[in-house]
Order: sequence, then C-alpha cells, then structure tokens
Amino acid sequence: MKKNHLATWESGIMTKNKKFALITGATTGMGEAFANYFASAGINLYLHGRNSEKLSANAKTYQDKYHVECKVIVKDLIEDDASSFLIKEVTTPINYLVNNAGFGVAGKYQDTDIEKQIAMQRVHVEVPMRLTHHFLKQDDQLQIINVASLYAFFPVPRQCIYAASKSMIHSFSLALYRDLIGTNKTVISVCPGLVYTQFRINQGKQEKKHFSGIWPKQVVEETLNALSKQSPFIIPGRFNRIFKTLLTTLPTKVSLRIIERVNTGRGY
Ligand SMILES: NC(=O)c1ccc[n+]([C@@H]2O[C@H](COP(=O)([O-])OP(=O)(O)OC[C@H]3O[C@@H](n4cnc5c(N)ncnc54)[C@H](OP(=O)(O)O)[C@@H]3O)[C@@H](O)[C@H]2O)c1
Repeated sequence: MKKNHLATWESGIMTKNKKFALITGATTGMGEAFANYFASAGINLYLHGRNSEKLSANAKTYQDKYHVECKVIVKDLIEDDASSFLIKEVTTPINYLVNNAGFGVAGKYQDTDIEKQIAMQRVHVEVPMRLTHHFLKQDDQLQIINVASLYAFFPVPRQCIYAASKSMIHSFSLALYRDLIGTNKTVISVCPGLVYTQFRINQGKQEKKHFSGIWPKQVVEETLNALSKQSPFIIPGRFNRIFKTLLTTLPTKVSLRIIERVNTGRGY
C-alpha cells in the first residue's frame, strides 16, 4: 500500500481541522508504527507509554519531520488510576483512540504469577474498556482501533490468560461495532499473528524469523485499509488468515495440541 493512503483516507480533514490521536503503548512496535503513520498524515498525537525518554525522542522526530503537536503521557497501566490519569491528560477531543499497550505472561497457568496475570487483564481489558467508554461520550467523530490478537480466536495453552484477554477485547469490539452503527464513531479489532516488535524480547524470548511473521508497518497499513472499508476486524498477513481458518475448523483437542506445540517451539 502506498504511503499516502492515510492522507487520502483523511482527505479534506487534515487541512481544515486539527485532528488528534491517542495511542497507548506508543513507545515501540505497533504503537510506534501507528504513531508514525498518523504523524505523517498531519494528525497530532498523545503518545502514551512508560519509557519517557524514548517517547520524548519519538515526539521530537514527529514534530521536526511532520510539524505535528505531540504530548507525551507516561503511566504504567497496571496502576489503579491509569485510565483516569490518561483521561485527565487528554485535553482536546480525539479522533482516533488506539488501544494498543500490552504485554505477555507465558507458561503453564499454575506456574505463573497470579498478580501479573491480573495486571495484564487490566492493561488489555479494563483500560481499553474505560478509555472507550469515556471517549465515546464526546461529540466529535471517533475511530477506535483495538489491538487484539490472532489468539483472540482460540484458546492458547501456555498463554491462556493472554489469549482470553484478547478474546475479550475482540468480542467487545465486534459487538460495539454494531452498537455504533448510525453514529459518527466506529471501532475495529486488529488481530495480528507474529509481529516483529519488542513483545517477545520483553518476555526474555529470542525473536526468530518465521514465515508468518510481519513487521508493524504492515499491520498499520492493513488496519487503516480495513478501517476505510468499515470492516469490523482485520487479521493482518495472508498466512495468519489461513491459520485462523484452519485452527478454528479443527476439533478442539487437535487445535489445542497444535497451538501448544507452536508455543513451546517458540520457547513458551
Ligand atoms: N508482537 C506480536 O507478535 C503481537 C501479536 C498480536 C498482538 N500483539 C499485541 O500488540 C500490542 C502491541 O505490542 P507490540 O507487539 O507492539 O509490543 P511492544 O513493542 O513490546 O510494545 C508494547 C507497548 O505497550 C507498552 N506497555 C507495555 N506494558 C505496559 C504497561 N504496563 N503500562 C503502559 N504501557 C505498557 C509499551 O510501552 P513502554 O515500552 O514505554 O513500557 C510499548 O509501547 C499488544 O497489545 C500485544 O498484546 C502483539
């Protein structure tokens, strides 16, 4: 897809009005790729994450290169007041909300740290729910991008709560998509498979090249294309769409064993 796709999609808007996007987890990976793409289309940014140094460096790049306004919001989303803190920091209406921040907790459920699992739920489910509920109340047009996962479509041994949390955000997004018909707001669920980011590296895993692996830029481009077609969800990457079809048609016991094998092969 061409670089100017978003500019076309935004035609007439970016020149007339100031547009703003809030991106959670904008420091690296897919969040950073969304931020870069929005900035290149002249959309001002609220950049959220925990690493203030990296976020500030990113903000400076977007300001210098694309002449957009950027505000950095530093907050660990596992904290109780995370959503209200972000809501307070966002001082304009926003036109895009990208619920992207996330991390993984892997291993057999019985061997994992329960507090980490609960914290992951907050980041993947509670925070997007609260931000979505708040920003849906504004009058301005809003497009919500919820980053779920290919794992939203089936249970995943060794990442059972991670996958369940992504099922939750995916199911929520699809139903919300219908609830928003006839309004000036919409939502899309993004269901990537393996994407080369900091995600596995942050879990102490080695990032290996895989035939189904894709780069964050492709996720962003496929997402914006799907959003422009008003699709309720997108599975970026051709192989991932095939995996989803295969794994959801196999008997549950068989698909569970296959997914477990894939995960253990990746060091989980
Ligand atoms: N990579 C994949 O293969 C893959 C596949 C499917 C879905 N996903 C999902 O895609 C989303 C983005 O992940 P990514 O792959 O781009 O990984 P990434 O490079 O590790 O980026 C994760 C982002 O989330 C932020 N973050 C993580 N924990 C946080 C916390 N407790 N509080 C606040 N911010 C936090 C990080 O910010 P700081 O660095 O500033 O802490 C970072 O900006 C996640 O929701 C992930 O579950 C990833």
